[in-house]
Amino acid sequence: MDKLLIRGGNRLSGTLPISGAKNAALTLIPCALLTEEPLTLRNVPRLADIDGFQHLMAQFGVSVSIRGKRPEDFGRVVTFEASRLTSTVAPYDLVRKMRASILVLGSLLARAGEATVSMPGGCAIGNRPIDLHLQALEAFGANIELAQGYVKATAPDGGLPGGDFDFPVVSVGATENALMAAVLANGTSRLTGAAREPEIVDLCNLLTAMGAEIEGIGTSDLTIHGVKRLNGATYKVMADRIEAGSYACAAAITGGEVRLEGADAENMISSLAALRKIGVHVEEDKSGVSIAANGALKPVDLTTAPFPGLATDMQAQLMALLCKAEGTSVLKETIFENRFMHVPELIRMGADINAEGRTAVVKGVQNLTGAEVMATDLRASMSLVIAALAAEGETQVRRIYHLDRGYERLEEKLQLVGADIERVDD
Ligand code: UD1
Repeated sequence: MDKLLIRGGNRLSGTLPISGAKNAALTLIPCALLTEEPLTLRNVPRLADIDGFQHLMAQFGVSVSIRGKRPEDFGRVVTFEASRLTSTVAPYDLVRKMRASILVLGSLLARAGEATVSMPGGCAIGNRPIDLHLQALEAFGANIELAQGYVKATAPDGGLPGGDFDFPVVSVGATENALMAAVLANGTSRLTGAAREPEIVDLCNLLTAMGAEIEGIGTSDLTIHGVKRLNGATYKVMADRIEAGSYACAAAITGGEVRLEGADAENMISSLAALRKIGVHVEEDKSGVSIAANGALKPVDLTTAPFPGLATDMQAQLMALLCKAEGTSVLKETIFENRFMHVPELIRMGADINAEGRTAVVKGVQNLTGAEVMATDLRASMSLVIAALAAEGETQVRRIYHLDRGYERLEEKLQLVGADIERVDD
């Protein structure tokens, strides 16, 4: 297993390219199951989670062809063709490695009238149930059975009728599954209290390009008029707002100045607002975002919330940044109940943090120091990288398979802007 060695203290400067969004790609890929025609996605990031999902698609008999395999290629072009499905079962072995596999439930059900998907099970950042995914599909007329660790969803003969569902809690994944099931339903469906994250807008835009009829895109009230069939499409995956936000924190903590090429400021509204409050200079234009440190970092109080609120996926990285602010910050996590696993590791690097329940109090310190650390999830791992870039001495980050799930060529990108970081065999 590899680890990262980071020697802190270099001021980051230069231009860093932002990849296609992992979480968008993971919801766009299953759209290929909704049509017999090819779906070509551009700007697909090269990540372990995406490879896993492509593998899962092949399991259903979908042909997957990838262009841009050369090491120097950033965005890949991937064509999926589901002319005939040979299976509608997502087995435990593939699903357990990647929770996002649950996103095939809605599209398989819509296309084939049935889907059997292994329950994703627990996850390091909380319980993460799938009850809302199932309730939404039931509201559309699906029959759901749970047996031997699998969810089996079936549509009545002639297909899903469609229906209305009001989400009691905003759920990104459940909204995505419901959308993919509703587009081929016989009637009209309405989703209220739906998530409106930019990745959902990306999904709606692709579905529309495939011939779906969706009203209310970008709002929490979506009306979907089912259509008989969908066509193929060629579509570019949106920029990764979390990757961009993570590198913005990295630039700021090192007192640096970095251009995030390809970042979309509109999708980063709350993260950029938080950075500005912290005293970081942020400039936005059509093709990217420029970040420049601007004197001392100021403490702030931040609370995560569904979009357009502050993304929970940015909480750990902002916490790392605030470890070096001049004063005390308070971070509240409202989305996941167990998402402070980076705290003990940051403390080992000299941070002063007191986390209780869903609140963390971060007292800024003068210096962070290098240490041997490891994290148990993707964004928590990134917070350790950010802290390490500003720490005195060397940090070793272990278990970097978490980072490989979500950051395309992390060390290469950071090297581009002057970080002292290398990947070595552990
Ligand atoms: C997605 C993102 C993840 C992000 C999260 C919140 C992907 C692949 N992952 O995860 O990076 O952190 O959105 O922005 O896109 N809930 C239920 N029942 C359900 C589903 C969810 O109670 O059936 C709860 C969850 O426990 C959580 C909250 O709803 O407290 C939000 O979760 P959700 O938006 O569904 O997250 P994911 O789609 O899993």
